Amino acid sequence: MSKHWPLDLTEAEMRAMMAASMDRIGTFISTLPEQAVDRSGEASTQFLSSLKEPMPELGGDFEQLLDTVFHDLAPLSLNPASPGFMGYVPGGGIFHAALADLISNTLNRYTGVASVAPALNQLEANVVRWLCQIMGYPAEARGFLTSGGSLANWSGLVTARHAKLGENFLRGTIYTSDQTHHCVAKAARLAGFPAANVRVLPADGDYRLDPARVRDAIRADRSRGMQPAILVASAGTTNSGAVDPLPELGVLAREENLWLHVDAAYGGFFRLTERGKQALAGIELADSLVLDPHKTLFLPYGTGALLVRDGKTLKAVHSSSADYMPAMQDDDDLMDFCELSPELTRPYRGLRIWLPFKMHGAGVFRRYLDEKLDMARWIEARIRNLPQLELLAPATLSILAFAIRDEDQSLAERNSATRALMQRINDKQRVNLTGTMLREVYAIRVAVGAFRTHQEHMDMLLEDLLEALASHSGTSL
Ligand SMILES: Cc1ncc(COP(=O)(O)O)c(C=O)c1O
Repeated sequence: MSKHWPLDLTEAEMRAMMAASMDRIGTFISTLPEQAVDRSGEASTQFLSSLKEPMPELGGDFEQLLDTVFHDLAPLSLNPASPGFMGYVPGGGIFHAALADLISNTLNRYTGVASVAPALNQLEANVVRWLCQIMGYPAEARGFLTSGGSLANWSGLVTARHAKLGENFLRGTIYTSDQTHHCVAKAARLAGFPAANVRVLPADGDYRLDPARVRDAIRADRSRGMQPAILVASAGTTNSGAVDPLPELGVLAREENLWLHVDAAYGGFFRLTERGKQALAGIELADSLVLDPHKTLFLPYGTGALLVRDGKTLKAVHSSSADYMPAMQDDDDLMDFCELSPELTRPYRGLRIWLPFKMHGAGVFRRYLDEKLDMARWIEARIRNLPQLELLAPATLSILAFAIRDEDQSLAERNSATRALMQRINDKQRVNLTGTMLREVYAIRVAVGAFRTHQEHMDMLLEDLLEALASHSGTSL
């Protein structure tokens, strides 16, 4: 290493850094099955305070820094890379994508403008076209990769707002259900809509948006001079996994001249499977769609996608120019992502999807997703057979929810018993579940979705559930 210009690493230095990193990564991955799934609680406030540090003026030893990250910091976390992680919405983080990021970041190409890195840009455009193909979108659809579902929902609502309302949108109203992910309300706010313009309608008994309620709300709004504009449906809610009635909502949106935006961040990729295709029927009617490859394509965190059925609407809101910019493309086969999305300079996200798809083919992702659907049904059937439990939400896709059965106890007692049951399961540290409220009832969710989760881990979940139930009721099952 040149002592004076140490950022200019030599090839030998880089190889040594890679080898040292790979040592730790290899150990991390190979010991995953034995690692506790959630050690976040072990990070005391005192310990966290002790981590505050001044900016270093001088450098330190690379291997020691790696050890700090791998040994001292990372273990004190919830571990979504674990096969036992079944909370929130899992994915897992395939290694191929981590490697793709290393390659992309090393190449450091400028891929938001087609003419500057035309071939790599076309590779990312292919990925976007594949996503459109998975979702049954037409050739004129366009889209882009972004950092996650929240930003994709925000861009979706901004696009919808521009297409339906133009610049004077403050009378425009949005319709959705009380089961929609909270990032949609945030997205509406960030898109400039007053909070009072978002109609959060109570979902039906199956936690789905009720088209009749939407129609009533639209009628009431029109009569008071508002401009009904956007309908937001969920294709797989985070709460219970429910899929809103997309065919009916598609018809309603067309009849009422509303933009149909579908948040399919969790559920969308199940359209790769036959069962998913059936559960998600009608999703292709959406004017815009959010997908989260860092959920159900198993990518590491950092990739969401927005797809828009009529690509011109995307360009209409995002296109902007300056004299210092290179020329943009008119060719329909090329995509200037800076003309289709909020970002100009951006990470090259295409490779993290392209590489695993090209290495394994879409069929392998389909097989994994089918496995998740099978395993969710398997655990659902076991839960249905346990008399102490009530299934509150069946597995439409791969999320389901249950609670302690309602006996003579008060709602508060029932809820605290369900919480305690989940705590007992999680305390074993082999699987990790998270809970939610379904109406007034505290529910334990099972979200099957990490790529490393296989049947043996579902067996563990069942074992730990049965043991927790036995100690709950004081009886052996
Ligand atoms: C249905 C749904 N929509 C949106 C989001 C937000 O996505 P992100 O966390 O990638 O911003 C989530 C996250 O879990 C989700 O489950």
